Amino acid sequence: MEKKNIDWSNIGFGYQQTDKRYVSNFKDGKWDDGELTSDANVVINECAGVLQYAQTCFEGLKAYTTEDGHIVCFRPDLNAARMEDSAKRLEMPVFPQDRFVDAVVQVVKANAAYVPPYGSGATLYIRPYMFASSPVIGVKPADEYQFRILCTPVGPYFKGGAKPITIKVSDFDRAAPHGTGHIKAGLNYAMSLHAIVTAHEEGFAENMYLDAATRTKVEETGGANFIFVTKDNKVVTPKSNSILPSITRRSLVYVAKEYLGLEVEEREVFLDEVKDFAECGLCGTAAVISPVGKIVNHGEEICFPSGMDEMGPVTKKLYETLTGIQMGRIEAPEGWVKVIE
Ligand code: PLP
Ligand code: COI
Repeated sequence: MEKKNIDWSNIGFGYQQTDKRYVSNFKDGKWDDGELTSDANVVINECAGVLQYAQTCFEGLKAYTTEDGHIVCFRPDLNAARMEDSAKRLEMPVFPQDRFVDAVVQVVKANAAYVPPYGSGATLYIRPYMFASSPVIGVKPADEYQFRILCTPVGPYFKGGAKPITIKVSDFDRAAPHGTGHIKAGLNYAMSLHAIVTAHEEGFAENMYLDAATRTKVEETGGANFIFVTKDNKVVTPKSNSILPSITRRSLVYVAKEYLGLEVEEREVFLDEVKDFAECGLCGTAAVISPVGKIVNHGEEICFPSGMDEMGPVTKKLYETLTGIQMGRIEAPEGWVKVIE
């Protein structure tokens, strides 16, 4: 298979149309067989539930070319399970988890020419999503839904790749205490758009959101969970019912304990204690692990000792081990890597 003529090492995190995507429709209480299509456009009724009441959820995972030339993806079963949680919370039908994984495999295979080569720094981002496609005008769940998976080759989420970024403590909230912060609902991201535009205008790469109830605890950013490292090399990551249960974070917790022999604390993290950490990073599928060099809280600067030039040493070890597992350089725990071809 010949790869597409793309300047892999210089692509950003953007949408680029590929050849095939997967579509399945839910009607009369059941999902149809689903198929791959070349049609990148969606036609829905003007009153579709997604357009009126934002009834939509999504997932994000990546396919990689490994050192020995296979195409693999990382823990797609966990994306399938999380999408089930999202669908249930949004009163949407569940797309069966085994079919989800099978559809991911179909889409990646059909777009193998877009999977960036090993060592290019780029990956194939896979975006499963589901939306209410039939009309609703009273506030209620729709009767019909569409599940789709598109994919697009991507580079680093933050410009500069592994360079530390500066973020701000946001004055906006991302999620309510008993709301939808723990699922991947499109509405959470709509909520965050004004906050991220504001942060970018002020020169920050991202927002640190606090818990909405007390505004004293660290939650997450718009698209990633936090990982901190203490001065004595303990990994600390915030625990909260209103953050997205990041698959990357859960994997890093395992990697830290089982591969690197580090102590890990998953607990509430107060904004007041952030200044005492040695390292800070954002973790997620898109972010991988993006180091944070500085956090600004209304003019007060928290500068991590790891600085603004490179990742801190523990963050770097976590990064290298995780990406080593994903790219086939380091043996993966059972079931983490799904070989596609
Ligand atoms: N938090 C938010 C709000 C996200 O959008 C994402 C991205 O999926 C994450 C965290 C990281 O989750 P994951 O590691 O499963 O990609
Ligand atoms: C992901 O990492 O897959 C996400 O969905 C985050 C998004 C901000 C791109």
